Amino acid sequence: MSVAISNKLSCLLVPSTNVVVFTGAGVSAESGVPTFRGIDGLWNEFNVQELATPQAFASNPVRVWEWYLWRMELISKVDPNAGHRVISWMESFFSEFTLITQNVDGLHDRAGNRHIFKLHGDLWEVRCVRCSKTAKLLTLPPHPLPPACECGGLLRPGVVWFGEMLPEREFSQSVAATEHCQLFFSVGTSAEVYPAAQLPIIAKEKGAYVVEINIERSAFACRADEVLCGKAGEVLPLIQHRCTVPF
Ligand code: OAD
Repeated sequence: MSVAISNKLSCLLVPSTNVVVFTGAGVSAESGVPTFRGIDGLWNEFNVQELATPQAFASNPVRVWEWYLWRMELISKVDPNAGHRVISWMESFFSEFTLITQNVDGLHDRAGNRHIFKLHGDLWEVRCVRCSKTAKLLTLPPHPLPPACECGGLLRPGVVWFGEMLPEREFSQSVAATEHCQLFFSVGTSAEVYPAAQLPIIAKEKGAYVVEINIERSAFACRADEVLCGKAGEVLPLIQHRCTVPF
Protein backbone atom coordinates (compact mmCIF):
# COMPACT_ATOMS: atom_id res chain seq x y z
CA MET A 1 0.00 0.00 0.00
CA SER A 2 1.43 3.40 -0.87
CA VAL A 3 -0.06 6.16 1.21
CA ALA A 4 1.81 9.45 1.13
CA ILE A 5 1.67 11.44 4.36
CA SER A 6 2.21 15.12 3.58
CA ASN A 7 4.89 17.27 5.19
CA LYS A 8 2.16 19.44 6.69
CA LEU A 9 0.59 16.44 8.45
CA SER A 10 4.00 15.11 9.50
CA CYS A 11 4.77 18.43 11.20
CA LEU A 12 1.54 18.16 13.20
CA LEU A 13 2.32 14.65 14.48
CA VAL A 14 4.02 15.85 17.66
CA PRO A 15 2.86 15.39 21.29
CA SER A 16 1.92 19.06 21.73
CA THR A 17 -0.70 19.02 18.94
CA ASN A 18 -4.33 19.04 20.08
CA VAL A 19 -5.87 16.08 18.23
CA VAL A 20 -9.43 14.79 17.71
CA VAL A 21 -10.13 11.38 16.20
CA PHE A 22 -13.69 10.83 14.93
CA THR A 23 -14.54 7.25 13.99
CA GLY A 24 -17.27 5.32 12.21
CA ALA A 25 -18.06 1.73 11.37
CA GLY A 26 -15.13 1.41 8.92
CA VAL A 27 -12.62 1.38 11.79
CA SER A 28 -14.15 -1.90 12.99
CA ALA A 29 -14.53 -3.47 9.53
CA GLU A 30 -11.13 -5.18 9.70
CA SER A 31 -12.20 -6.79 12.98
CA GLY A 32 -15.10 -8.40 11.11
CA VAL A 33 -17.90 -6.05 12.17
CA PRO A 34 -20.16 -5.15 9.21
CA THR A 35 -20.50 -1.48 8.25
CA PHE A 36 -23.92 0.09 7.62
CA ARG A 37 -23.52 1.34 4.06
CA GLY A 38 -21.64 0.03 1.03
CA ILE A 39 -22.03 -3.32 -0.75
CA ASP A 40 -22.07 -5.51 2.36
CA GLY A 41 -23.64 -2.85 4.59
CA LEU A 42 -26.25 -3.81 7.19
CA TRP A 43 -28.75 -1.30 5.79
CA ASN A 44 -28.75 -3.16 2.46
CA GLU A 45 -29.95 -6.29 4.18
CA PHE A 46 -32.04 -4.92 7.04
CA ASN A 47 -34.73 -2.26 7.25
CA VAL A 48 -33.75 0.70 9.46
CA GLN A 49 -37.39 1.52 10.19
CA GLU A 50 -38.05 -1.98 11.53
CA LEU A 51 -34.95 -2.20 13.71
CA ALA A 52 -33.46 1.13 14.68
CA THR A 53 -36.30 3.48 15.59
CA PRO A 54 -38.28 4.00 18.82
CA GLN A 55 -41.43 3.09 16.84
CA ALA A 56 -39.92 -0.26 15.86
CA PHE A 57 -39.17 -1.07 19.51
CA ALA A 58 -42.65 -0.01 20.61
CA SER A 59 -44.33 -2.22 18.03
CA ASN A 60 -42.03 -5.27 18.14
CA PRO A 61 -39.45 -5.24 20.96
CA VAL A 62 -38.63 -8.93 20.53
CA ARG A 63 -37.69 -8.48 16.84
CA VAL A 64 -35.54 -5.45 17.70
CA TRP A 65 -33.83 -7.28 20.57
CA GLU A 66 -33.16 -10.35 18.38
CA TRP A 67 -31.31 -8.17 15.90
CA TYR A 68 -29.26 -6.42 18.59
CA LEU A 69 -28.51 -9.76 20.23
CA TRP A 70 -27.27 -11.09 16.89
CA ARG A 71 -24.93 -8.09 16.60
CA MET A 72 -23.77 -8.46 20.20
CA GLU A 73 -22.98 -12.13 19.66
CA LEU A 74 -21.02 -11.29 16.51
CA ILE A 75 -19.07 -8.49 18.20
CA SER A 76 -18.34 -10.54 21.33
CA LYS A 77 -16.38 -12.96 19.12
CA VAL A 78 -14.09 -10.37 17.45
CA ASP A 79 -11.14 -8.32 18.68
CA PRO A 80 -9.94 -4.75 18.26
CA ASN A 81 -7.65 -4.38 15.22
CA ALA A 82 -4.47 -2.43 14.50
CA GLY A 83 -6.48 0.75 13.83
CA HIS A 84 -8.15 0.64 17.25
CA ARG A 85 -4.79 -0.04 18.88
CA VAL A 86 -3.14 3.02 17.28
CA ILE A 87 -6.06 5.23 18.38
CA SER A 88 -5.60 3.90 21.92
CA TRP A 89 -1.87 4.65 21.76
CA MET A 90 -2.66 8.20 20.55
CA GLU A 91 -4.53 8.88 23.80
CA SER A 92 -1.26 8.74 25.71
CA PHE A 93 1.00 10.17 22.97
CA PHE A 94 -0.83 13.47 22.41
CA SER A 95 -1.10 15.75 25.45
CA GLU A 96 -4.57 16.87 24.34
CA PHE A 97 -6.52 14.10 22.68
CA THR A 98 -10.24 13.40 22.18
CA LEU A 99 -11.83 10.29 20.74
CA ILE A 100 -15.35 10.70 19.38
CA THR A 101 -17.07 7.64 17.97
CA GLN A 102 -20.33 6.80 16.25
CA ASN A 103 -19.65 3.12 16.95
CA VAL A 104 -21.56 1.21 19.60
CA ASP A 105 -19.45 -1.97 19.44
CA GLY A 106 -17.17 -1.27 22.43
CA LEU A 107 -13.98 -2.09 20.49
CA HIS A 108 -12.35 1.27 21.35
CA ASP A 109 -12.89 0.48 25.05
CA ARG A 110 -11.41 -2.97 24.59
CA ALA A 111 -8.41 -1.49 22.75
CA GLY A 112 -7.70 0.63 25.84
CA ASN A 113 -9.14 4.11 25.21
CA ARG A 114 -10.34 5.55 28.52
CA HIS A 115 -12.08 8.74 27.43
CA ILE A 116 -14.55 8.19 24.61
CA PHE A 117 -17.47 10.35 23.53
CA LYS A 118 -19.98 7.79 22.27
CA LEU A 119 -22.39 9.77 20.13
CA HIS A 120 -24.64 6.83 19.24
CA GLY A 121 -24.59 5.08 22.61
CA ASP A 122 -23.26 1.69 23.60
CA LEU A 123 -24.43 -1.79 22.61
CA TRP A 124 -23.21 -3.04 25.99
CA GLU A 125 -25.64 -0.89 27.95
CA VAL A 126 -29.39 -1.10 28.50
CA ARG A 127 -31.92 1.50 29.59
CA CYS A 128 -35.35 1.02 31.12
CA VAL A 129 -38.10 2.63 29.05
CA ARG A 130 -40.14 3.18 32.22
CA CYS A 131 -37.71 4.37 34.96
CA SER A 132 -34.77 5.38 32.64
CA LYS A 133 -32.28 3.49 34.84
CA THR A 134 -29.21 2.42 32.85
CA ALA A 135 -27.02 -0.63 33.39
CA LYS A 136 -23.88 -2.10 31.84
CA LEU A 137 -24.25 -5.53 30.29
CA LEU A 138 -21.54 -7.91 31.41
CA THR A 139 -23.07 -10.84 29.51
CA LEU A 140 -25.57 -11.16 26.66
CA PRO A 141 -29.11 -10.40 27.86
CA PRO A 142 -30.85 -13.57 29.11
CA HIS A 143 -33.88 -15.06 27.37
CA PRO A 144 -36.80 -14.58 27.25
CA LEU A 145 -36.53 -11.39 25.23
CA PRO A 146 -37.18 -8.54 25.79
CA PRO A 147 -35.29 -8.30 29.10
CA ALA A 148 -37.10 -6.53 31.95
CA CYS A 149 -35.98 -3.98 34.55
CA GLU A 150 -36.47 -4.51 38.32
CA CYS A 151 -39.30 -1.95 38.08
CA GLY A 152 -41.13 -4.14 35.56
CA GLY A 153 -40.46 -1.84 32.57
CA LEU A 154 -38.86 -3.07 29.35
CA LEU A 155 -35.12 -2.71 28.95
CA ARG A 156 -34.02 -1.35 25.58
CA PRO A 157 -30.57 -1.33 23.94
CA GLY A 158 -28.55 1.69 25.12
CA VAL A 159 -28.07 3.01 21.59
CA VAL A 160 -29.37 6.08 19.79
CA TRP A 161 -32.03 5.27 17.22
CA PHE A 162 -33.05 7.26 14.17
CA GLY A 163 -35.33 10.10 15.22
CA GLU A 164 -33.72 10.36 18.70
CA MET A 165 -31.48 13.07 20.12
CA LEU A 166 -27.78 12.42 20.63
CA PRO A 167 -26.66 12.37 24.28
CA GLU A 168 -26.48 16.09 25.06
CA ARG A 169 -23.28 16.22 27.14
CA GLU A 170 -21.34 13.90 24.81
CA PHE A 171 -22.31 15.94 21.75
CA SER A 172 -21.67 19.38 23.25
CA GLN A 173 -18.27 18.27 24.59
CA SER A 174 -17.46 16.72 21.21
CA VAL A 175 -18.28 20.01 19.49
CA ALA A 176 -16.11 21.91 22.00
CA ALA A 177 -13.15 19.56 21.48
CA THR A 178 -13.60 19.79 17.70
CA GLU A 179 -13.67 23.60 17.81
CA HIS A 180 -10.38 23.72 19.69
CA CYS A 181 -8.34 21.00 17.99
CA GLN A 182 -5.49 21.60 15.56
CA LEU A 183 -5.65 18.22 13.84
CA PHE A 184 -8.86 16.29 13.18
CA PHE A 185 -8.92 12.72 11.81
CA SER A 186 -12.16 11.42 10.30
CA VAL A 187 -11.69 7.65 10.16
CA GLY A 188 -13.91 5.01 8.51
CA THR A 189 -17.10 7.03 8.33
CA SER A 190 -19.33 7.78 5.36
CA ALA A 191 -20.02 11.18 7.03
CA GLU A 192 -23.67 10.92 6.01
CA VAL A 193 -25.46 10.77 9.36
CA TYR A 194 -26.14 14.08 11.09
CA PRO A 195 -25.60 15.67 13.51
CA ALA A 196 -22.43 13.59 14.01
CA ALA A 197 -21.31 14.33 10.42
CA GLN A 198 -21.29 18.03 11.32
CA LEU A 199 -18.08 17.53 13.31
CA PRO A 200 -15.54 17.36 10.45
CA ILE A 201 -17.26 20.40 8.93
CA ILE A 202 -16.95 22.31 12.23
CA ALA A 203 -13.29 21.29 12.52
CA LYS A 204 -12.59 22.63 9.06
CA GLU A 205 -14.50 25.88 9.68
CA LYS A 206 -12.58 26.47 12.91
CA GLY A 207 -9.23 26.06 11.17
CA ALA A 208 -8.14 22.55 12.10
CA TYR A 209 -6.16 20.49 9.61
CA VAL A 210 -8.67 17.79 8.65
CA VAL A 211 -7.53 14.37 7.45
CA GLU A 212 -9.83 11.64 6.18
CA ILE A 213 -8.81 7.98 6.38
CA ASN A 214 -11.14 5.77 4.37
CA ILE A 215 -11.03 3.03 1.73
CA GLU A 216 -13.10 5.33 -0.50
CA ARG A 217 -13.87 9.02 -0.56
CA SER A 218 -16.71 9.95 1.82
CA ALA A 219 -19.34 12.66 1.50
CA PHE A 220 -16.89 14.93 3.35
CA ALA A 221 -13.72 14.09 1.37
CA CYS A 222 -13.85 17.08 -1.00
CA ARG A 223 -13.63 19.42 2.03
CA ALA A 224 -10.79 17.55 3.78
CA ASP A 225 -7.27 18.98 3.73
CA GLU A 226 -5.83 15.54 3.12
CA VAL A 227 -7.39 12.20 2.15
CA LEU A 228 -5.45 9.06 3.00
CA CYS A 229 -7.07 6.34 0.97
CA GLY A 230 -6.66 2.93 2.57
CA LYS A 231 -7.75 0.68 5.41
CA ALA A 232 -7.72 2.24 8.86
CA GLY A 233 -5.78 -0.75 10.18
CA GLU A 234 -3.04 -0.07 7.66
CA VAL A 235 -2.98 3.74 7.44
CA LEU A 236 -3.10 4.43 11.20
CA PRO A 237 0.07 2.38 11.91
CA LEU A 238 1.83 4.56 9.29
CA ILE A 239 0.67 7.64 11.19
CA GLN A 240 1.95 6.12 14.45
CA HIS A 241 5.29 5.38 12.81
CA ARG A 242 5.53 9.00 11.61
CA CYS A 243 4.79 10.19 15.16
CA THR A 244 7.65 8.21 16.63
CA VAL A 245 10.29 8.39 13.89
CA PRO A 246 11.28 11.94 12.91
CA PHE A 247 11.07 12.41 9.13
P1 OAD B 1 -21.08 3.66 7.27
O1 OAD B 1 -21.39 2.22 7.09
O2 OAD B 1 -22.05 4.65 6.78
O3 OAD B 1 -19.70 4.01 6.59
C1 OAD B 1 -18.56 3.21 6.81
C2 OAD B 1 -17.40 3.88 6.11
O4 OAD B 1 -16.23 3.13 6.41
C3 OAD B 1 -17.53 3.95 4.58
O5 OAD B 1 -17.22 5.28 4.17
C4 OAD B 1 -16.46 2.96 4.10
O6 OAD B 1 -15.88 3.37 2.87
C5 OAD B 1 -15.47 3.02 5.23
N1 OAD B 1 -14.64 1.82 5.42
C6 OAD B 1 -14.99 0.51 5.27
N2 OAD B 1 -13.97 -0.29 5.62
C7 OAD B 1 -12.95 0.51 5.99
C8 OAD B 1 -11.63 0.28 6.48
N3 OAD B 1 -11.13 -0.94 6.65
N4 OAD B 1 -10.86 1.35 6.78
C9 OAD B 1 -11.34 2.61 6.61
N5 OAD B 1 -12.57 2.89 6.17
C10 OAD B 1 -13.37 1.86 5.86
O7 OAD B 1 -20.79 3.85 8.83
P2 OAD B 1 -20.84 5.18 9.71
O8 OAD B 1 -20.30 6.33 8.96
O9 OAD B 1 -20.26 4.85 11.01
O10 OAD B 1 -26.08 5.08 13.24
O11 OAD B 1 -22.39 5.35 9.87
C11 OAD B 1 -22.88 6.37 10.69
C12 OAD B 1 -24.11 5.90 11.41
O12 OAD B 1 -25.05 5.35 10.47
C13 OAD B 1 -23.87 4.73 12.37
O13 OAD B 1 -23.40 5.16 13.62
C14 OAD B 1 -25.25 4.14 12.49
C15 OAD B 1 -25.60 4.12 11.03
O14 OAD B 1 -26.94 4.07 10.71
C16 OAD B 1 -27.11 4.64 13.96
O15 OAD B 1 -27.42 3.46 14.02
C17 OAD B 1 -27.83 5.74 14.66
